[in-house]
Amino acid sequence: MAQVYNWQLGREMEYRFPEAHPKWQFAAVFNINRCIGCQTCTMACKSTWTFSEGQEHMWWNNVESKPYGGYPHNWDVKLLQLLNGISPGMSWDGSQPGALQAPYGRYEGETIFEAAKRAELPDTAVGYLPTDEEWTAPNIYEDTPVNRATSTQATRLPEHKTWFFYLQRICNHCTYPACVAACPRNAIYKRPEDGIVLIDQERCRGYQKCVQECPYKKPMYRPSTRTSEKCIACYPRVEGSDPLTNGLPMEARCMAACVGRIRLQGLVPMAEDGTWKPEPTNPLYYLIREEKVALPLYPQFGTEPNVYYIPPRWVPRPYLRQMFGPGVDAAIAAYRRPSRRLQAVLQLFRATQTIVFRFDVKEGAQIAEVQVDGQPMALYDDVVIGFDSRGKEVVRVSVKQPFFERPAQYLNSI
Ligand code: SF4
Ligand code: SF4
Ligand code: F3S
Repeated sequence: MAQVYNWQLGREMEYRFPEAHPKWQFAAVFNINRCIGCQTCTMACKSTWTFSEGQEHMWWNNVESKPYGGYPHNWDVKLLQLLNGISPGMSWDGSQPGALQAPYGRYEGETIFEAAKRAELPDTAVGYLPTDEEWTAPNIYEDTPVNRATSTQATRLPEHKTWFFYLQRICNHCTYPACVAACPRNAIYKRPEDGIVLIDQERCRGYQKCVQECPYKKPMYRPSTRTSEKCIACYPRVEGSDPLTNGLPMEARCMAACVGRIRLQGLVPMAEDGTWKPEPTNPLYYLIREEKVALPLYPQFGTEPNVYYIPPRWVPRPYLRQMFGPGVDAAIAAYRRPSRRLQAVLQLFRATQTIVFRFDVKEGAQIAEVQVDGQPMALYDDVVIGFDSRGKEVVRVSVKQPFFERPAQYLNSI
């Protein structure tokens, strides 16, 4: 085991391989608050990559209803229970957050790698192999809320008594992937150019250690080929080699298809030591590192996942803190009362399929003043401009959206 630095935990941790970081890292932000659970992303992925024999149970992208739903069933509850059984108390010291290398404070518990080593498990990480039954019904408990029977009254923010939310899930293309560490054949690798994690189908022999040890359960076994497969981050689009892209890096299918405009995906530049190069005008850097409005999913597992979530503001905070770590309260506060710049950058979500490498904001007039938590907040009609990998403008969106009225003769046309 090597010592590596995990900034999401604010400390070093043990991992099978020494640090080796890509030039760019695939990353995405999902805004849970805006997801309508339409599953367009799920079907965009399914119809692109997993429509063949032996892939019937595979959903590289899935959207599950929390807290009861999960694909495979109860994946997170089962792993949390396993980890807590071996290493009780996944606690954080959030008393000194702030620095770029420890923005959420310091994780005091053990990761899946550390707990496996201390418990002298034969595996690299704490994990389990889901049963065939658990891979069925990808959207089990859809729209099932907590407290449905008991709550009849309208609820108000900051938390609702009756609640559920949609959790959008793909492979996190982790910085320290458990799947890579798990594979006895070294069949899984992280690409040096963009950090995308892929399974080499020639090397894979179907040992399924990746399925067992990925905490997010994103590698899936294919009986027809006796190999495992996983989300490939639509790498031909991301690298700009898809014929449609004209050489420009493009967002993955699940991102580009998102009807709710909840997804923004891109690439962040990495320094050799694994830190993110300070790029305050890269939209992902801005949202994740500057505003800290988007957080990693279960950072305590220790893989340093690269998909980030804007947490749902109506959900009880203890549940969210377990899921996204101690940065939850600050992230929700930043989202409920967004800075002027954040208001503009939030408009970039799903505004173009081309990956935005840099943004600029042109200030406009004040258009409204609203009350948030009893305090006034001004809204401005600023314009956010996105630039592609070659520095050319590809999108321009204003905070105030244009309004189209359907002509009277089409009112009932469907
Ligand atoms: Fe590997 Fe799982 Fe991380 Fe994806 S989410 S890189 S499959 S450990
Ligand atoms: Fe599927 Fe591509 Fe989304 Fe991965 S990134 S879940 S391969 S659509
Ligand atoms: Fe390795 Fe997973 Fe294949 S453990 S051999 S990549 S099934």
